[in-house]
Amino acid sequence: MLFIARKALASVHSKASRLTAREVHCLSSILLSPPLVSLDFPENWTPHSDPPPPVSFESVQKTLVIDGKVIAEEIRTKIVNEVCKMKKAVGKVPGLAVVLVGQQRDSQTYVRNKIIACEETGIKSVLAELPEDCTEEQIIRVLTKFNEDTSIHGVLVQLPLPQHLDEVKILNMVRLEKDVDGFHPLHMGNLAMRGREPLFVSCTPKGCVELLIRSGVEIAGKNAVVIGRSNIVGLPMSLLLQRHDATVSTVHAFSKDPEHITREADIVVAAAGIPNLVRGSWLKPGAVVIDVGTCPVEDSSCEHGYRLVGDVCYEEALGVASAITPVPGGVGPMTIAMLLCNTLDAAKRISF
Ligand code: GUN
Repeated sequence: MLFIARKALASVHSKASRLTAREVHCLSSILLSPPLVSLDFPENWTPHSDPPPPVSFESVQKTLVIDGKVIAEEIRTKIVNEVCKMKKAVGKVPGLAVVLVGQQRDSQTYVRNKIIACEETGIKSVLAELPEDCTEEQIIRVLTKFNEDTSIHGVLVQLPLPQHLDEVKILNMVRLEKDVDGFHPLHMGNLAMRGREPLFVSCTPKGCVELLIRSGVEIAGKNAVVIGRSNIVGLPMSLLLQRHDATVSTVHAFSKDPEHITREADIVVAAAGIPNLVRGSWLKPGAVVIDVGTCPVEDSSCEHGYRLVGDVCYEEALGVASAITPVPGGVGPMTIAMLLCNTLDAAKRISF
């Protein structure tokens, strides 16, 4: 009898090894809730296009424009000094390796800016460019080389990757101590848990909080709304604001009344990637607005035939928000400054 039961169990086990993660979950779970990954539908936003109600005269106020370029420059000056000190003390400089796959124009621009920023601050940089149709094995070979190179302290894979590549598998290859993007689940988990300190916090959320602090915005106890829940920005942003003692709500494509939820917020971080999603009417008068969006929209009057637009209707937010980051010149330069910071930290950890 026992033998038969064992045999049946073994057959279930051997079947389980051929099942999908979802099927295994259903087999073993007592709960009725589905596996979380099966809930991850694509984010389809339906932005409102109705005109916002007019802003009453009483609520018109002066809006501080938070200059991310100036703040990032201050930080970069400090990095230059630190890199010089490190060179004098241990004869080494921090090193960053960037992996770029394919020819996406946005990604090429972001990567070029990261490499230039390294050059300008004395950080060594190496760029590995791979063709759009490269294999996972080719990328993993490059990452293994960077992981083992002692002159490289930070490694990043520019996202998004082409569709045919397994992003999770590739990002998991980056050594924890060199994951300056802070994308590894261990870093993200440590960010989520009180009493834990991640080795790296993702660059854009870290830059946003730095902007708030340097602009004199108190975070503790404030209602913060993060619009968007991407792994790169929205999720770590929510976690980080919570670590700073804000009361955090996340608004996403399935949220019932995003406008209403956003209007409750003292701090709004817009990271949905939808140009002009957040109208003036979404904002509580006096709210602080951090706009992470950068979307090129056609504009023949501009030099390159396009201009960059944020997630927030900038013109409408002026006079309602107490402070706002512009696009461009707000969050973007801070993301790069934080990448340099993380690379410097990584180098310091092993050099001193
Ligand atoms: N793509 C857009 N933002 C980022 C970022 O911060 N890091 C990486 N690796 N890719 C990105």
